Amino acid sequence: MMDRDILKVLFSEEEIQARVEELGGELYERFWDKNPLFLGVLKGSFVFMADLVRACQIKSDLEFIAVSSYENATVSSGRVQITRDLQQDITGRNLIVVEDILDSGNTLAFLKDYFMTKGAASVTIVTLLDKPSRRTKAIKPDLTGFVVPDEFVVGYGLDYAQKYRNVPYIGVLKPEVYSN
Ligand code: PRP
Ligand code: MN
Ligand code: MG
Repeated sequence: MMDRDILKVLFSEEEIQARVEELGGELYERFWDKNPLFLGVLKGSFVFMADLVRACQIKSDLEFIAVSSYENATVSSGRVQITRDLQQDITGRNLIVVEDILDSGNTLAFLKDYFMTKGAASVTIVTLLDKPSRRTKAIKPDLTGFVVPDEFVVGYGLDYAQKYRNVPYIGVLKPEVYSN
């Protein structure tokens, strides 16, 4: 089992679901009359995206973009690459950008510029996790699920070397898993 690679649980399935419900309610208040486009940043956001759109019963559509900057490392390479681009015109749209984690800020700083260049009317950033201690770019989330310490977290969509995304809770990986 993957459980034996986890040092500790930071947020249980129940804690995550309760917080996602709150975030969905907050988004409803802000966007019920704004025809928002939920825009998930793959791959990490896929679990959060699925839960968040169901926690927010607005008539809305959704889209994905895939980017990668970590490759197989635990530290961002700083180079953000689009690996799957938008499949629709976002001109004039109010975007709800959905991320699993905001860490250095490289990914969202790049994407916010990219979406504004593509003509978005507004960009609202919703991240399940925020790790402000590692920020190198001046970017802040509009809505945050939980603030996390500077530890390498996995689960609920977050990976280490593409594994552990299907762990249903958010946990800290044992150092020996990524140090050898
Ligand atoms: C991770 C995570 C965020 C980003 C956050 O994605 O899902 O998108 O890094 O880090 P940053 O703030 O330092 O840019 P990753 O590049 O690992 O791709 P993935 O979503 O496919 O795992
Ligand atoms: Mn990601
Ligand atoms: Mg990753």
